[in-house]
Amino acid sequence: MKQKKILMVCLGNICRSPLAEGILTEKCKHLPVFVDSAGTSGYHIGEAPDQRAQYIANVNQINIGNQKARKLTSKDIETFDLIYVMDESNYSTCLKLVKSRNDEIKIDFILNVSNPGKNLNVPDPYFGGDKGFENVYNLLNDSCEKIKIQLQKEFNAQR
Ligand code: 4NP
Repeated sequence: MKQKKILMVCLGNICRSPLAEGILTEKCKHLPVFVDSAGTSGYHIGEAPDQRAQYIANVNQINIGNQKARKLTSKDIETFDLIYVMDESNYSTCLKLVKSRNDEIKIDFILNVSNPGKNLNVPDPYFGGDKGFENVYNLLNDSCEKIKIQLQKEFNAQR
């Protein structure tokens, strides 16, 4: 079974995409799946996830404290099989890095997994309170559960 590489993308790579990476990694630990995350900005390169993101992950038995923020590159778009963005701003930044139609179709809004075709944004919790992080966690958990089920089906079909 060929390993599937999945990239989560947000703006700072310290709140939403590290949570998405942590949640999907945990759900797919029994599958040949590699999950990573990156930010469209370089504001927080090298930093660990925001304390509030680490907290809500810990509450749900997920440790994201070892992640380090990095900036999205055009190579990422080539390397990864699926690229999930948190919002429309991330989506347009990713599109600018695309070099082929094959790469373009890898990119989708993560909330389209749970709300097909709506292109909904995962609200940016950075300037909000802790409740914002709980909301983000729940939205990402729903989509990641569906992503895991889909991957499980694909891998089962290959066997
Ligand atoms: P994220 O949240 O994109 O979910 O990591 C943000 C983190 C930092 C900033 C904005 C959003 N910032 O402007 O520094």
